[in-house]
Amino acid sequence: MPTFFLDGKEIEFTPGQTIIQAAKNAGIEIAHFCWHPGLSVAGNCRVCLVEVEKAPKGMIACATQATEGMVVYANSPKAVHMRNAVMEFLLINHPLDCPICDEAGECKLQDYAYKYSVGKSRFDEEKVHKDKRIELGPNVMLDQERCICCSRCVRYCEEVVKNPQLTFVNRTEKVAIETFPGKQLDNSYSMNVIEICPVGALTSRDYRFKARVWDMSQTNSICIGCARGCNDVIWVRDNIIKRLTPRENMEVNEYWMCDYGRLNTFKFVNNEETRVNNPMMREEGIDSDGAGLKPVEWDDAIARIISEFKNYRADEIGFIASPYSTLEDNYVLQRFAKEIIGTENIVYLPHIEGEDDNLLLRADKTPNSTGLKHLCINPIDAKFIDKLLNKQIKMIYILNDSLSGLERTEEISKAIEVAVLQTSNFYEMSHKASVILPASTYAEINGTFINFQNRIQRIRPAVAPLEVERLPGDFSVSRLDKFGSHNDKWTKGTRFNSRPAWKVISQIAHVFGSSFDYENTEDVFDEIAVKVPVFAGMSYEMIGEQGMLVGTGETITA
Ligand code: SF4
Ligand code: FES
Repeated sequence: MPTFFLDGKEIEFTPGQTIIQAAKNAGIEIAHFCWHPGLSVAGNCRVCLVEVEKAPKGMIACATQATEGMVVYANSPKAVHMRNAVMEFLLINHPLDCPICDEAGECKLQDYAYKYSVGKSRFDEEKVHKDKRIELGPNVMLDQERCICCSRCVRYCEEVVKNPQLTFVNRTEKVAIETFPGKQLDNSYSMNVIEICPVGALTSRDYRFKARVWDMSQTNSICIGCARGCNDVIWVRDNIIKRLTPRENMEVNEYWMCDYGRLNTFKFVNNEETRVNNPMMREEGIDSDGAGLKPVEWDDAIARIISEFKNYRADEIGFIASPYSTLEDNYVLQRFAKEIIGTENIVYLPHIEGEDDNLLLRADKTPNSTGLKHLCINPIDAKFIDKLLNKQIKMIYILNDSLSGLERTEEISKAIEVAVLQTSNFYEMSHKASVILPASTYAEINGTFINFQNRIQRIRPAVAPLEVERLPGDFSVSRLDKFGSHNDKWTKGTRFNSRPAWKVISQIAHVFGSSFDYENTEDVFDEIAVKVPVFAGMSYEMIGEQGMLVGTGETITA
């Protein structure tokens, strides 16, 4: 491989790579604003100026290709002087908003001002003022004064979304970002401009002013909005999820996520009004109007479920698995249905809406239908529906889903004698249940999902359910990351009385005298790896931060 020298260090590069790319691959960051690995090169901010031996003037590292034996300095006195000069220029009209700016703590301009600028302005004129509160679209606000004209947002709309909605207007210090006349920044991926904007010019209308970044914990997770499973980060303060941001995975979502996933896959976790916060049980003989459901202790709810199971023959009991739930939850549910109850009546409800788009969004709106296929759990079919309507199946156990999307739902719900729901939130039809068990959400547990590419990916607890503190090392806490890095963040805020589904089902199995001996999610996964051939040889540890393809032994660790 050819090499060049950066500040005396030999760096390998592939022909065609720029200095900034090769340095990044070697783990060295050269200061940059306008360059982004997912966009074309614009070369307009100039902060990446480096000194190149034998070149008469500074070269921008983002647009200069590395060549064999080239000698580059990013930290020589000349390079430092050039960078300082660019920083001084960019800061001339930048407002001193850091104390009230959402970007503070993750702002490139702020970071580089600390790192590279001289700390004193020679500019004592009035700064140029521009509009500070522009609703660019339904999800993004613009503060024109903070913009440093890097053009990342403009290029993103043109090149990634292929829907040019932003442009520059005016010249010199009056230059500003605007939408095209009569247009808004309104597309399925508009909120990615918030992260690619290196300053606080573009902010989220949903998240604005809700938290400072240094007050939040960050947990690597997976979006549950569709079958792609975009890698994301869950940001939590006081046990409340404040925002989701995309996490780089070149095999799945590159640098992006959609607005739907970002806005609609975490608020139900925080929602105190709709979360099921206790096991609930209907008193005998009371109609299914919701009035008869009363909060009870876990042991009482489980005892009732067991007595209901005992009232029916195996073929009169059905199970609805869930493509919203983890592989581990579904595996334990299936094992319970087959081994303890002795029924093959287990299906799941598909949730297909619209079509795949040409970027990330998938028509399958669930994160784990591929996982269910690997467990050989089939989608619901006419035969299963007939069994429900004809009262051949009289008792149904529904994991994390609702029958409300089915045709003839009303008839089906009238035909069912006993329904047990294991769900995190109340929904339209949940008041018809006989027993409701509060299930932990994907943000409270460990587990795995398998996306449409057959890539298995991990979720982790970002917020704490009630029992974590009482049962350290148990429930949703993983062997690998007990309490994660954010145990201190779990001391405040509401903690819901929920449990991981696999744990509760195992508890029910124990009462039937069976040994479902799992201490944690990894134990369940280890058993899956032994019993389900496609997972042979896999372990939880192997899955890593970027997932791996199922059945190939490939691990992506980039
Ligand atoms: Fe760059 Fe942000 Fe200005 Fe867009 S708004 S040009 S991303 S600084
Ligand atoms: Fe190179 Fe902006 S990062 S010119």
